[in-house]
Amino acid sequence: MTNLAVFASGTGSNARCITDFFAQSDCARVRLVVSNKPDAPVLAMARERGIPALVVDRAYFYESERLLSVLAEHSIGFIVLAGFLWLVPTYLVRAYWRRMVNIHPALLPAYGGKGMYGLRVHEAVKAAGERETGITIHYVNERYDEGDIIFQARCSVLPADTPTDIARRVQALEHEHYPRVLERLICSTPADNAVA
Ligand code: GRF
Repeated sequence: MTNLAVFASGTGSNARCITDFFAQSDCARVRLVVSNKPDAPVLAMARERGIPALVVDRAYFYESERLLSVLAEHSIGFIVLAGFLWLVPTYLVRAYWRRMVNIHPALLPAYGGKGMYGLRVHEAVKAAGERETGITIHYVNERYDEGDIIFQARCSVLPADTPTDIARRVQALEHEHYPRVLERLICSTPADNAVA
């Protein structure tokens, strides 16, 4: 069983999907939620499901490595970023190298980087006249949205779409794919991936 920690700053709709997806799994389970916002709705989601939650401030996250002890106490083997807006510090990237992933609401490397989050991403996609957008799931390194890409899925952008319309379509893709891609990454054995 791999214990997952989900890091989220916002509403946590992906965190909820992932938590519920793995609730009955015999391979992975969400055991900890970490947020940098004391009033983030994701914390209520954790409370409702009896999952321990930790709220971190900047000093805790960047100027100490105390988080590593908490992750160890909960035997966390894999970290899932789902709307966590802070850059991940080196000590954490190293400790969870190739065991920490993020989802971005666009087709990286386009429309990523510092400041590209939420509706801003979809506004930029719309302003550029893109006919297609999507999601990117990638490993986390020390730069925003630059880790190796694991998975992408696409959807169309229609001429009449508002950024909110685009956001809705992209979010549906996130909910559909993020839990399943995690399952593939965490739960499949090399034999599952072998070519028959
Ligand atoms: C998602 O769009 C994800 O791609 C981005 O942050 C958003 C989180 O949304 N990294 P939610 O809080 O899970 O609804």
